[in-house]
Amino acid sequence: MDELARRWLAVQRDLGGDELIVDTPIEVSASSPDAPVEATSERTPPRRSKPLPGAPRGIESVVPQDPEPIASVGPAIVPKRYAEGDLPAYLKDAPGIPPAGLVVTLPPPPAAAWPTLEAVAETVAGCRACPLCADRTNTVPGEGNPTASLMVVGEGPGEQEDLSGRPFVGRAGELLDKMLLAIETPRPTVYIANVVKCRPPRNRTPLPDERAACLPYLHRQIALVRPKVLLALGATAAEALLGVKKPLGELRLKVHRLDGIPLVVTYHPAALLRNPNWKRPAWDDVRIARQLLDALV
Ligand code: URA
Repeated sequence: MDELARRWLAVQRDLGGDELIVDTPIEVSASSPDAPVEATSERTPPRRSKPLPGAPRGIESVVPQDPEPIASVGPAIVPKRYAEGDLPAYLKDAPGIPPAGLVVTLPPPPAAAWPTLEAVAETVAGCRACPLCADRTNTVPGEGNPTASLMVVGEGPGEQEDLSGRPFVGRAGELLDKMLLAIETPRPTVYIANVVKCRPPRNRTPLPDERAACLPYLHRQIALVRPKVLLALGATAAEALLGVKKPLGELRLKVHRLDGIPLVVTYHPAALLRNPNWKRPAWDDVRIARQLLDALV
């Protein structure tokens, strides 16, 4: 695939188009661990749903629609502490809570699971589980408030992150900081991690095997931080966390759940830098995440 075609497909993916980017041909059978899992996007009445068969690697089950939604669909949630007319900027004209989405269950951690975030970072520092280790300057395990209410998940380190060992410190990071500030959850209050902890060559999308090799670290980080709300930035983070292959447009505007934790999907800040038209919908997404925090904290 030439570079132009690849870039066009990347934009389609950011937009939520149906085109998929595959770096190498993938054999997909119904029993393949990478088989796409069908998820419904319809607003149907809550019902008891069976897990979908053939959940992807690292994920125990995916239920297509949450039978017990974490929040009811409706107008924006205004915390009692805000008197009428005294709303914070993030609640003015805020969207309501969207319908329930997927319910993902992770397997229980092994008995010898890393006991702390530091232990995860230490193992990541010496990790050789996939070829991304070959070119890294530093691993980028993640950072932030270990008891954060909001945990943000990106795709993988870029150049600046690789050089510094810290997530989201480049231009996309600056935009992320502004978005977090705008919903009154400044960066030091949140925990930030990526799907892969080493920089992919030329910032390409991490391959399925690279994601699968790195996911146990992210799953353990989520279990240790146990945030009230998860925010997935971009299709790679959303797909890795939810274990589905779906366009971003189908994963946004839902309240998914990962091991009980509400999960909201939005555009990756790098995509917003390329396409400022998506800043408005992304602003709605982060305000939904903030409302869930207000409702749950
Ligand atoms: N993009 C990501 O997904 N993560 C980072 O840490 C930086 C840029």
